[in-house]
Amino acid sequence: MTERSQPELIDRRRTEVDEVAVGPDTLVLGIETSCDETAASLVMGGSDIVSSVVSSQIDLHASFGGVVPEIASRAHLDLLNPVIARAIVEAGVDDRRIDAVACTIGPGLIGALLVGVSAAKALALAWDVPFVGVNHLEAHLYAALLDDPTIEFPIVVLLVSGGHTMLVEMQEPGVYRLLGQTIDDAAGEAFDKVARYLGLGYPGGPAIERIALEGDPAAIRFPRAMRGEGLDFSFSGLKTSVINYVRKHPDVETADLSASFQEAVVDVLVEKARRAAVEVGAKGIALGGGVAANGRLREAMLGACAEDGIHGYVPSRDMCTDNAAMIAAAGWHRLRLDGPTPLDEGAHPNLKLAPPT
Ligand code: KG4
Ligand code: ZN
Repeated sequence: MTERSQPELIDRRRTEVDEVAVGPDTLVLGIETSCDETAASLVMGGSDIVSSVVSSQIDLHASFGGVVPEIASRAHLDLLNPVIARAIVEAGVDDRRIDAVACTIGPGLIGALLVGVSAAKALALAWDVPFVGVNHLEAHLYAALLDDPTIEFPIVVLLVSGGHTMLVEMQEPGVYRLLGQTIDDAAGEAFDKVARYLGLGYPGGPAIERIALEGDPAAIRFPRAMRGEGLDFSFSGLKTSVINYVRKHPDVETADLSASFQEAVVDVLVEKARRAAVEVGAKGIALGGGVAANGRLREAMLGACAEDGIHGYVPSRDMCTDNAAMIAAAGWHRLRLDGPTPLDEGAHPNLKLAPPT
């Protein structure tokens, strides 16, 4: 390192903002450490995935029934460097070919976020390339685009993860508007809480989906909250209904219970996404977020879109759950639209999906 001071270096990076040319050959390294996945990926031109490595910590947290923040931070510290190295090796490129480093700056667990943000800034400084701070929720919106770069806009994205459930209008990449969101639990949270109550383990979504395959989705008619009201969601009442039902009917088949619960969640998600698409005149509906890996939701959404004569964009399961390709893609668009993020940017555990200014 030269004798240059840190503030001077930061200033220097800011002045280079206008000089960054972002195009189809721009190669972005994406880094994701917001929760329990340590991931790195190289994406070219905002949509061409050159490599994508995801190291899941699920096994470390499973015995605790959920993500333990301190364990997650420590695991990210151990895993991040090897994961980044593997992403570069798998891409078969020299690190001098990397044009920018994008990283999730929020929302997420603060300790976990800081591991990624510190690494990303260090690499950007060392390689003398721009650093781009990415909103994890915005990144989930790009899952469908990574699978199908020919998407016709505008689209409605149903973003359903462990911490969030929202409907977003995407007018074009990088330009979006929040249409509705959950007023209490996220859909994934409902899956996780119901699974924990039923003793099915963590994460709850895949466990419920598996057992629901053997059950009857019409066995129990659980409530569909806020069905006729606007584009917001509510899932905490559904979770309580499941618990109350089990208390009253202790001999109920877990498969029927799981299938009926899953059906209630899927019904509401599909119906509201459909209504949102009509309201904004969307040409299609895209799924994103971990719950979008759910087979029943994918099937129901595609069926609804076919009925309504619009496109259904259902990304591969790997793109729905947390990964770094979506971070690199979002980073490419943010770099194109806003330029690099200053190196004094921090991590923001409660970052919201705000329309870009
Ligand atoms: O997007 P994600 O990987 O992480 C967050 O940003 O939250 O989402 C994780 C959530 C968990 O709640 C998990 O139970 C749920 O996605 N999930 C599923 C399925 N796979 C993951 N929910 C329903 N069905 C699935 N197959
Ligand atoms: Zn996520």
